[in-house]
Amino acid sequence: MKESDNYSNLAPLYDKLMENVDYESWADYIDEIIQEHHPECEKVLELACGTGSVAISLDELGYYEILASDLSPQMIEVAKQKALEQNADVRFQTLNFLNINIEEEFDVIFSVFDSVNYLQTDSEIIAMLEECEKVLKPDGLFIYDFSTPLNSLEAVDYLNNEEAEVKDLRFFRTSEYDAINKIHTNTFEIEQLSEDKKEILSTFKEVHKQRIYTLEEMLSILKQTPYHLVAKYGDFDLIDADENSARITLVLKCQKHL
Ligand SMILES: C[S@@+](CC[C@H](N)C(=O)[O-])C[C@H]1O[C@@H](n2cnc3c(N)ncnc32)[C@H](O)[C@@H]1O
Repeated sequence: MKESDNYSNLAPLYDKLMENVDYESWADYIDEIIQEHHPECEKVLELACGTGSVAISLDELGYYEILASDLSPQMIEVAKQKALEQNADVRFQTLNFLNINIEEEFDVIFSVFDSVNYLQTDSEIIAMLEECEKVLKPDGLFIYDFSTPLNSLEAVDYLNNEEAEVKDLRFFRTSEYDAINKIHTNTFEIEQLSEDKKEILSTFKEVHKQRIYTLEEMLSILKQTPYHLVAKYGDFDLIDADENSARITLVLKCQKHL
C-alpha cells in the first residue's frame, strides 16, 4: 500500500469525514472572540483552513476580508470549489504555517480544529508563532486552538474503526492514543474504487500523527515567545479554560507590538 502525503488522498473525503461538525457555529465562535477582543478587525488570515468551511461561514457575516490557507494543495482545491459554489468571497492559498511568505499584514490570524497539534515539538510551535509575528499588524490577535489529553481519551474510541464512502472513494480509519508520549495517531486507508465499485483500483495510506499538549505545556511554550496571553477559552465558550478542557482556544497578542 502506497503511503501518501497527509490530506492528499483524504481531501475529497474530508467533508464526509467532518459531516457532523458544526462549522457555522465554529465560525460564530471565532467571530465572537474577534468582536470581544478586536472589534475593529477587517483583515483575517486563516491557517490550516482545510476545505475552507470556517472561512466560508465567516465570510457570510459580510464584514471580514479573508485569506484562508493550508499546507495541502488538494484541500485548497476542494475549498476553492466550495467557495465558488457558495459564492463566497474568500481568497485561498497553499501555505505552510512554518513558512509564511505573504506580503500582507492581518488584524487577526486564526487556526482551528487541532491543526497546531500537527506540530510535534515545542520548537515547531515557537517557529510557527514567530512566522505569524511577521504578518500580524500592531494590535493584531493570533487565535488558535489545540487538543488536550482529555480530548484524545474521549475521542479515541469513536474515531477508531470508522469507515465511509464518497463517490468512488472509500476510507477506513484506525485511531490510537499513546498517553505516555501524548501522541494521537489516526491512520486512514483509502481505496480508489472502479465505477461500479466492484473492484479496488488502488489503495493509499495516510498516517496522521498529532502531538497532544496539556494547558500547562502550551503556556510554558508561550513563555518562550514574544506573545502575551489575552485569554484562554475552553470548549467553545468564553469561559476560562483549565486542565479539564478538552479543546482550548488561546487568544494572543504579540508583546513586541504592545
Ligand atoms: C484537522 S484538519 C483541520 C482543517 C480545518 N481547520 C477544519 O477545521 O476543518 C488539519 C489541517 O491542518 C493542515 N496542516 C497541517 N500541517 C500544516 C502546516 N504545517 N501548515 C499549514 N497547514 C497544515 C492540514 O493540511 C489540514 O488541512
